[in-house]
Amino acid sequence: MKSAYKLAATALLAGSACAQFVPAPTDLIEKLGFANVSVRYKEVPTGICELDPNVKSYSGYADIEKDQHIFWWFFEARNQDPTTAPLTVWINGGPGSSSMIGLFQELGPCGVGPDLKPFNNPYSWSNASNILFIDQPSTVGFSYSVPIPGYKDNSGHLVQLPNATCPEYAQGFGTCATYSKPLIQSVPNKTEDAASGMWKTLQGFMGAFPQYSRNGFSFTTESYGGHYAPVFNAYILDQNAKNISGAHHINLENVLIGNGWFDPLIQYEAYYKFAMGGNTYDYMPYNDTVIAEWNNSLYGAGNCLDRTLDCRSTGSNAVCSAADDFCYSKVEYPYDLYSGRDEYDMRYLAPNPFPYSYYVTYLNTPEVQQAIGAYQNFSESSSIVSSAFGNTGDDDRESGTIEACRKLLDAGVQVMLYYGDADYICNWLGGQEVATLINATGYAEAGFVNISTSDHKVHGQVRQSGLFSFLRIYESGHEVPFYQPLAALEIFERALNQSDIATGQICVKDEADYKTVGTPTSDYREGNATMQFKITPSNATYNVELDAPDAVPTWSAGIGKRGVKEKREFKQARSFLGRPRKSKGGKRPA
Ligand SMILES: *[C@@H]1O[C@H](CO)[C@@H](O)[C@H](O)[C@H]1NC(C)=O
Ligand SMILES: *[C@@H]1O[C@H](CO)[C@@H](O)[C@H](O)[C@H]1NC(C)=O
Ligand SMILES: *[C@@H]1O[C@H](CO)[C@@H](O)[C@H](O)[C@H]1NC(C)=O
Ligand SMILES: *[C@@H]1O[C@H](CO)[C@@H](O)[C@H](O)[C@H]1NC(C)=O
Ligand SMILES: *[C@@H]1O[C@H](CO)[C@@H](O)[C@H](O)[C@H]1NC(C)=O
Ligand SMILES: *[C@@H]1O[C@H](CO)[C@@H](O)[C@H](O)[C@H]1NC(C)=O
Ligand SMILES: *[C@@H]1O[C@H](CO)[C@@H](O)[C@H](O)[C@H]1NC(C)=O
Ligand SMILES: *[C@@H]1O[C@H](CO)[C@@H](O)[C@H](O)[C@H]1NC(C)=O
Ligand SMILES: *[C@@H]1O[C@H](CO)[C@@H](O)[C@H](O)[C@H]1NC(C)=O
Ligand SMILES: *[C@@H]1O[C@H](CO)[C@@H](O)[C@H](O)[C@H]1NC(C)=O
Ligand SMILES: *[C@@H]1O[C@H](CO)[C@@H](O)[C@H](O)[C@H]1NC(C)=O
Ligand SMILES: *[C@@H]1O[C@H](CO)[C@@H](O)[C@H](O)[C@H]1NC(C)=O
Repeated sequence: MKSAYKLAATALLAGSACAQFVPAPTDLIEKLGFANVSVRYKEVPTGICELDPNVKSYSGYADIEKDQHIFWWFFEARNQDPTTAPLTVWINGGPGSSSMIGLFQELGPCGVGPDLKPFNNPYSWSNASNILFIDQPSTVGFSYSVPIPGYKDNSGHLVQLPNATCPEYAQGFGTCATYSKPLIQSVPNKTEDAASGMWKTLQGFMGAFPQYSRNGFSFTTESYGGHYAPVFNAYILDQNAKNISGAHHINLENVLIGNGWFDPLIQYEAYYKFAMGGNTYDYMPYNDTVIAEWNNSLYGAGNCLDRTLDCRSTGSNAVCSAADDFCYSKVEYPYDLYSGRDEYDMRYLAPNPFPYSYYVTYLNTPEVQQAIGAYQNFSESSSIVSSAFGNTGDDDRESGTIEACRKLLDAGVQVMLYYGDADYICNWLGGQEVATLINATGYAEAGFVNISTSDHKVHGQVRQSGLFSFLRIYESGHEVPFYQPLAALEIFERALNQSDIATGQICVKDEADYKTVGTPTSDYREGNATMQFKITPSNATYNVELDAPDAVPTWSAGIGKRGVKEKREFKQARSFLGRPRKSKGGKRPA
């Protein structure tokens, strides 16, 4: 479902045919990075996202294979010398979701409001680190295979055009654009197969910009990143160990995963548990008939759990993808059907206007595409990647994620799992069981303690042992940095320092047997005070003090003028809701 705003903007442009397509960028600088990966890029002008002229930003492509061109967007650290600052990568999940979701809705230097102008995010993670957003794998976001002019017909199918002229008959759909040619064999179709593309992209970037990767490297992600991060980072350790000539040894220190999707066996069951009163918002609207059917779809013979076990034992693409379809429609989807609520934030009825998605229209303007050197139109999710992964049932596979987390910990890499507790799609009850299964040294004996932050408000709890931690964040949907920006930034800073997450006062890297001493379970309950029982207006603004929408939207207060002291300043955009099947991506396989 496109927002009214987007339709209006498209209508304005409908007159000029050629303007609907993205011309090939002509002003990119080419450099050979490490491992022979070539990178093309440009400096992004101030005001396109970062508003401070003293903070540089670059974007471009890493050409990792003939038909795989990976888009990245880099921002210098704001408050330290960027040539000695650590480097952090952020990716969204999906599979198929663009990392522009994280950049504009969550933790990048800016958000975009309904005036289609960027506004400053004072809680940007670039306040603490150099940060690199990567659209991966190929065809996600601005990443492309082969750019072609085309349009989507009324059933959503891509039709290629012979040239960059939008014919009369296609104008009505409003979808004339430059798309990636759907070469399904030129995108990976499993988590394990996507790892080398990430490694190559990093080699390309680090070779072109050695000044930004002199210090520690951290990998941050969300959602389907629960698959990507453990596997990709274990692969980085393996590549490091090979001492490949011409390749860079990546100094991996931290892996942070928000509302991650790791193990379908645990996490499909967690949908049911979360819906059946396991959530802490005191909301359980289902009658006995619905409950019995839901229970049977999960536990009944031959149903979701059995099918997922069959996927595990056979490893068959057909079995895994059928299992995932079954579990999605019979175990995940009943929540949507019977509660009418947003899978990414149970406090809101669907459609939920948070986080804000005005940035999608912004990224489809010629000015912005030219400024960042983009070579295709922007979409939040690649259907090429989601079908490729769908064909192997990757979502229903555990993909070695638990073992990979153990491997990272054994190598001295910090692993942090954090979960916004109003999220259903990758909910914290499942995450908590995943954390137990990872079984980091000493974790079984650690307990939950409050996380203290500079605003003296308790935003959640942490259970930590050594460099492993599990966090539950209160009053937060799937995209934690949108809902709890102050806590998210302070937690990120503590993780970068490898200090204790609860206070930031103890240096955990020097105190390997550090453990939180607290309750065995996290018992705080929000209750229904922030549950919305009416659909929230599409122009609403989110108030992080109230953990609720503003009574009157504050957009007109002049987003650009708001100062850091005004905590309501950080506004963000929501992912589109109209997809046929949800992905854990920005919003799960979103
Ligand atoms: C880079 O290319 C050179 C020359 O073609 C080759 O010898 C070398 O093995 C390549 N290095 C990597 C890491 O691919
Ligand atoms: C982030 O950095 C900017 C620029 O230095 C600063 O104005 C802002 O106060 C910082 N934000 C926080 C939350 O400290
Ligand atoms: C572009 O293709 C259309 C058919 O869709 C054709 O009618 C038109 O002449 C072509 N224009 C150019 C400039 O080649
Ligand atoms: C890689 O280099 C390290 C340190 O120089 C060395 O200990 C290790 O044996 C090397 N590994 C391989 C596979 O050559
Ligand atoms: C239970 O809820 C479902 C879905 O709202 C409804 O269709 C059904 O009639 C209800 N059954 C009973 C016995 O109330
Ligand atoms: C599922 O239903 C069965 C049979 O009614 C019941 O024994 C079991 O406790 C239910 N499981 C859960 C987790 O609710
Ligand atoms: C694609 O990008 C072009 C150029 O920026 C823009 O004019 C057009 O509206 C975009 N198309 C869509 C469907 O967003
Ligand atoms: C997945 O990709 C591999 C490598 O390109 C290919 O051989 C395989 O057939 C693909 N699997 C499916 C189910 O499409
Ligand atoms: C967790 O690890 C400990 C050793 O650190 C081991 O004794 C224990 O059996 C493991 N527990 C599980 C459930 O794997
Ligand atoms: C932890 O925070 C809760 C509020 O969420 C508060 O009631 C409780 O007293 C705090 N516990 C400690 C030990 O400070
Ligand atoms: C919210 O919870 C309170 C008590 O916990 C209950 O009385 C009230 O009916 C609930 N409100 C709604 C709208 O469900
Ligand atoms: C928000 O939209 C409502 C209608 O849904 C409208 O009445 C209101 O004026 C709008 N508010 C702002 C600040 O744009």
